[in-house]
Amino acid sequence: MEKYDELLKFTSKYGQQHLLKYWPELDEEGRDRLYSSIKSIDFDKSFKAYSGDSREASSEFSLSDVSPIEVIEKPDESAELGKKYYEKGIEVIKKGGVIAVTMAGGQGSRLGHEGPKGTFDMGLPTHKSLFELQVDQLSSIHENTGAYVHLYIMTSEINHNQTVEFFEANGYFGYPKDKISFFCQNMIPVFDRNGNMMLSAKDKVVTAADGNGGIFSALESGGVFSSEDGKKAAFIYISQIDNCLAELCDPIFIGCAALTGKSCLTKTLMKAGPDEKAGVYCVKNGRPCVVEYTEVPKDMAELKDSNGEFVFGDVNAGIYVFKKSVLEHASNRGLPYHKYVKKTERLDENGKPFKPEVPDCIKLEMFLFDIFEYIDDVTAFRIKREDEFAPIKNATGVDSPATARNLYYRKFRIPMGKIAELDGDEMTRVVWQKIKDIVLEPYIRLNTEYYDLSITNRDATDDKVTVEAANAIKRLKVGVKCATITPNAQRLEEYKLKKLWRSPNATLREILDGTVFRAPVIADGIKPLVSGWKKPIVIARHAYGDVYAAKETAVKKGSKVCISVTDPDGTVTNIPVHDFERSSGIVSGMHNEDDSIRSFARSCMSFSLSCGLDLWFSSKDTVSKTYDHRFKDIFEEVFENEYRKSFEDKGITYFYTLIDDAVARVVRSEGGFVWACKNYDGDVFSDMLAACFGSLSMMTSVLVSPDGCFEYEAAHGTIPKHYKKYLAGEPTSTNPIATLFAWTGALRKRGELDGNVFLIDFADRTERATLKLVGEGRMTGDLVRLSSCENKVTLDLDGFLGEIAKHIYD
Ligand code: UTP
Repeated sequence: MEKYDELLKFTSKYGQQHLLKYWPELDEEGRDRLYSSIKSIDFDKSFKAYSGDSREASSEFSLSDVSPIEVIEKPDESAELGKKYYEKGIEVIKKGGVIAVTMAGGQGSRLGHEGPKGTFDMGLPTHKSLFELQVDQLSSIHENTGAYVHLYIMTSEINHNQTVEFFEANGYFGYPKDKISFFCQNMIPVFDRNGNMMLSAKDKVVTAADGNGGIFSALESGGVFSSEDGKKAAFIYISQIDNCLAELCDPIFIGCAALTGKSCLTKTLMKAGPDEKAGVYCVKNGRPCVVEYTEVPKDMAELKDSNGEFVFGDVNAGIYVFKKSVLEHASNRGLPYHKYVKKTERLDENGKPFKPEVPDCIKLEMFLFDIFEYIDDVTAFRIKREDEFAPIKNATGVDSPATARNLYYRKFRIPMGKIAELDGDEMTRVVWQKIKDIVLEPYIRLNTEYYDLSITNRDATDDKVTVEAANAIKRLKVGVKCATITPNAQRLEEYKLKKLWRSPNATLREILDGTVFRAPVIADGIKPLVSGWKKPIVIARHAYGDVYAAKETAVKKGSKVCISVTDPDGTVTNIPVHDFERSSGIVSGMHNEDDSIRSFARSCMSFSLSCGLDLWFSSKDTVSKTYDHRFKDIFEEVFENEYRKSFEDKGITYFYTLIDDAVARVVRSEGGFVWACKNYDGDVFSDMLAACFGSLSMMTSVLVSPDGCFEYEAAHGTIPKHYKKYLAGEPTSTNPIATLFAWTGALRKRGELDGNVFLIDFADRTERATLKLVGEGRMTGDLVRLSSCENKVTLDLDGFLGEIAKHIYD
């Protein structure tokens, strides 16, 4: 009982004898553990820290006590100064003059992620952890300079082992193992609301890392200064693990520190508004410091200079570079502790593990920036928020993985392989540009070969531009097209055209030898007229021959009509069609070509495979025993010889039935298949499906060639009514969904062909964000009329696209 007596005496001195409550239940080892846990705590220091929050003591001050901190605006790399800093920074890095420190010892209680925050997967398609993203940056510095910057990761007792194991398990993400080290910061007890220490287990006191200000003593005790690379370095770069945009050892930053000779540069960003909940930099009573937003007097928070900028607007970004010599002296400075109310797991009064729902414990933290009190020349290095600041603090809402992903993609913008871009006419041309500006460009480095298929340019180029565009799609494999005007007599006059140019789609179809697939976009609240349809029905129309290429004539009474076929060897066969002895009439001669039907079959089967949908094909072979039967036979032959195996592997089927049976089955189905139709059937049923699924504005179309070229577009036209309103300066609520989905279709296909997971992910997310918005009742005017949502809100075109863009990376 010697140990027990010792502990009882010791804890009683501080009123903490409840920590021994489970002593009788513990075995010898447990008692030893509890003994060490209690003895490792500096009770005097802990209670002093608990009872003396320096923030509270120093919170009262007025505007006259403060002045702005010195600021250096981060220069652009292309500017002269930027180049100078950059080159200096690279020189320092090459010489091993800087080491990087990542603070990763925190508890991450707000994020609620199991395990160290650095192991968190922020939802990139590569599933890289925050640690890997940071190591990647140092790897690219190595590519750039040939030097490996040594990375020191600050952990704490709660996550040290897991952190090291994570790096071990992942092979240090390809970085040399001897260039990544870990050092542990100190722990301090967590208190309950009554100022008592708690147990996390029957043999352990609840402790937590002592705040990011614990870094100074930890650098010393963790052997960073005395390590080989630590000794060599003149500068110490420090940032936090939870800022996924922090540019580790940013050469401009390092170079600036080296050339200006400042003891400390601290990256700051301009606060977004006077009420932003972030501490601001200033010089108070002659010392540089960060004042908590709760303590900033209103007049100080709102004060602006003659340029309209906040005088005290520099907010801490948590990224620093220190002269090492300054920090070596700082390590023995005692920083004040600040109190935070946080969630902490512990034992409840019955000795059961307890995970609070709300923050209810007092955590003591030192702040790194309190060291500024002891450093003279701290200078703010002002960066652009969007360039380098995307913290992940909370599970949802502000500073969450969703906001960080958004900022991450806005910064890096997804690179992509080239696609053909075919611009078009009238309102859809306006929608086209807005989709690019508002939804695509912010996140993607759009890479397109641009063809202007507007009616005026087709006229100016004698429609050569359409042919060039078609050839570009053949070459690049993927194209996206805006709706275009197919001129008629009225358009001829309206646009003063040289002639009635062909429909661009007909030219594209011909050159690509393609099949058009039309697919409805299904959104919650927009109910198809056929209530059983839950999934899209994609319709494929064979756009060659039959009645569309028929030769027709009127026939007088008494005439006889036959089909006359001349074989290559000159043999003539006459097949009687009809004897018009009773009445005059009409006659039509249709044709189709086996090769075209075969291409059609191949396109349909490839498309079904690419989207994993069953394929149906229908004709009327019982009546048209040669003509339609040939279609049926060719489809069967192509399927058996070329596709059966792949269909089976993919778990999809090919199914033939008579057109009348097909129609009945389609109506009774749930949807979710490709329906291949002959030319006329496709013409009729595609419009029927469009009407039944809601609106043409929700119908996309893709032209697929048998050799695997894809051209995406909206199934609708150029929306001239809206265009007139737009030209008159009136707001329009044009539905951009089909055009947007043409873009996402093309981007996804490009991504699939190139193995670009980021692009595929963008396309998927953009479509999901769009459908979510419509499902929530926020939509364009045309959909408001169709939607069964409650509380519908009509958005104009810009508003709708803006909302989509905002939520892509939610
Ligand atoms: P935060 O102040 O956001 O704290 O840390 P946290 O512990 O990560 O998260 P919450 O507050 O419990 O939700 C900012 C940065 O400082 C590091 C964190 O790992 C993070 O990179 N940090 C914080 C430490 O390294 N040690 C600490 O004691 C506290």
